[in-house]
Amino acid sequence: MSDYSVRLLRADEDRAALDLFRRALHVKETTDEEWPSISASMQPDRAFGAFDPELIGTVRSFDSEVTLPGEGTVPIGAVSLVGVRADRTRRGVLTNLMRAQFEDFAARGVPAAMLHASEGAIYGRFGYGIAARGKSIEVDRHRARLRPEVPSGGQISLLDLESTVEQWPSLWDALPRTRPGMIDRSAYLWPGYERDVRKATTPASTAVHRGPDGVDGYVTYLVERPGPGEPVFLKIISFHHASPDAFAGLWRYLLSVDLVDRIIAEKRPLDEPIELLFTDPRQVAVLKIRDEGWLRLVDVAAMLGARAYRGEPVVIEVTDPFLEHNSGRYRLSEDGAARTTDPADLELTAETLAMLYLGGWRASDLAVAGRVRATGEAALERADLLFGTRVNPWCGTFF
Ligand SMILES: CC(C)(COP(=O)(O)OP(=O)(O)OC[C@H]1O[C@@H](n2cnc3c(N)ncnc32)[C@H](O)[C@@H]1OP(=O)(O)O)[C@@H](O)C(=O)NCCC(=O)NCCS
Repeated sequence: MSDYSVRLLRADEDRAALDLFRRALHVKETTDEEWPSISASMQPDRAFGAFDPELIGTVRSFDSEVTLPGEGTVPIGAVSLVGVRADRTRRGVLTNLMRAQFEDFAARGVPAAMLHASEGAIYGRFGYGIAARGKSIEVDRHRARLRPEVPSGGQISLLDLESTVEQWPSLWDALPRTRPGMIDRSAYLWPGYERDVRKATTPASTAVHRGPDGVDGYVTYLVERPGPGEPVFLKIISFHHASPDAFAGLWRYLLSVDLVDRIIAEKRPLDEPIELLFTDPRQVAVLKIRDEGWLRLVDVAAMLGARAYRGEPVVIEVTDPFLEHNSGRYRLSEDGAARTTDPADLELTAETLAMLYLGGWRASDLAVAGRVRATGEAALERADLLFGTRVNPWCGTFF
């Protein structure tokens, strides 16, 4: 029995909850000036608080939807602002907040949740798995030369900071969500993005690419000039494209921006072939590969039934200690998914299933790491094909 209670927060408690989260992340409390814009990023009735009787912990979410393998979508809770007061950690407060949030998702028919994690060890125990990873890259602008066959691209037009802020939502909406894991950008996200670019010490710009059918890509960036004699960085804030032409055209543009030494981008899709644009692929250094999107299958049966599969059937046995009703055997095939009593080919936890679900890992590799137990190589081969996706998953939206 815990000595605190968990409940949905009222709107007049939002600021205290945000400041609790900020203190947990060692960030200054909200100012009166910031608050109107920040409160516009908070969907009502989506935050929980733990009280003892003071507020000691909080979690939040906003409604979104995620693209699945096969290009269907399902509603998700996009989870953010998770924090517990430093003098109340490690006594189960987050555990109870997570439980309340999952119950709320289930009650509202939301079958999955996604988040970005501050640390890699927090969320696995709650059944979240690393569903998408991203790479951080750096391009030496002076030495990177485009190969002759790289498409010349279409027309580029440049937006200043004000136009960027104004046009971001419509630019985003104009582009298809081409990868599993990409989420819908709710109206609650844009105020935060606007605050971030306005806070930056150099002005953000957006290069918009137009192909034969109109806008098919954009890149928002700013240029950081650290100090005399130090390299000048062009930092990509957001890069989205819907065609190879737009991808190449935007990179061609980025290389042409004067007074820049290096171009850096964080959390790009693992299979995005940036280095293949250049005569010397080594001019693109991969600085880091890290978890980019965490997924929780809140309703395993519904989620398994929602995505597409390829190849021969596989029976999986899922263990889900945190949401026990999900535990059981499921038969997956090109025709869909259903509970079964057939013997299992693969045994895995809900966390590992979330890692497989968007196609970000192969069952064979998860078996090597001991996360999947299989009846044999043949079962793993079938599972690799069944869960495999044409492109790597990527969330592409930070929240
Ligand atoms: C991360 C945080 C929310 C955890 O809250 P908490 O109330 O301490 O979590 P719980 O007590 O419910 O922890 C449950 C388990 O997770 C473990 N755990 C919690 N946070 C962890 C962390 N950061 N690293 C490793 N393990 C962690 C606990 O040790 C505990 O394990 P146990 O059951 O074996 O004892 C809290 O430490 C915090 O606010 N941190 C700073 C802000 C932050 O990082 N927020 C996350 C933003 S994505």
